Amino acid sequence: MQRDEAPASTLQGRPIKPAVWDAWAREGRTPYDISEEEMRFLVHHTSGRYGQVAVEAGCGIGKFSRRLRRLGYHVTGIDYSVLSLQLARAEGYGPQLTYLYADLEDGVPSDLPLHGVDLVVARTVVPFLTKPVEWLQQVRDLWLTPDGQVYLVVPIGREKPLQPGQMTQTDIEVLCSGWQVERRDTGGLARIILRPSTP
Ligand SMILES: C[S@@+](CC[C@H](N)C(=O)[O-])C[C@H]1O[C@@H](n2cnc3c(N)ncnc32)[C@H](O)[C@@H]1O
Repeated sequence: MQRDEAPASTLQGRPIKPAVWDAWAREGRTPYDISEEEMRFLVHHTSGRYGQVAVEAGCGIGKFSRRLRRLGYHVTGIDYSVLSLQLARAEGYGPQLTYLYADLEDGVPSDLPLHGVDLVVARTVVPFLTKPVEWLQQVRDLWLTPDGQVYLVVPIGREKPLQPGQMTQTDIEVLCSGWQVERRDTGGLARIILRPSTP
């Protein structure tokens, strides 16, 4: 390694198999409700919306995707839980609200426009990816428009062992390093807006 080369991130997520997410969807488990305060935070810190492209990574049964659509975005929800996607589609879909089966670990989903996404949302998803930092780098380098933004919700774990899906404050700082960050912590959740740092 060159002396000035950044060290590779050691932050590891803890994936869960799609069958487990199917079971959660079957039981109607939606881990974190969407509050009006959350929506105000998102709207306040993001620019545009009407007609812009949003992708919800790990959309589950599509509750947040539908909220994004109501804000005016053209939305694609992505998940690899087949049952979650069925339940999401049962609530309605169309040209401006579509759902896509894809594993986020498999690179850029083929239907996404490269450098064409204005907002990528990942609510309580990133801790379940094997390499969360690298996934965010891919989003920055290949998914986002030059002015694009990312909205993350990350459950904060304060005690070891961490529960599945949690990250420590230090993990979250590692995750966000190299980005411009707006963050608000509420009820054990870190809500984070990321913008690529300008060089
Ligand atoms: C905790 S749920 C959150 C669902 C939704 N974002 C919400 O806020 O209610 C995590 C979701 O991420 C999906 N997920 C996890 N890992 C994934 C992966 N590698 N590819 C696609 N979806 C994934 C799961 O299937 C599940 O629906």
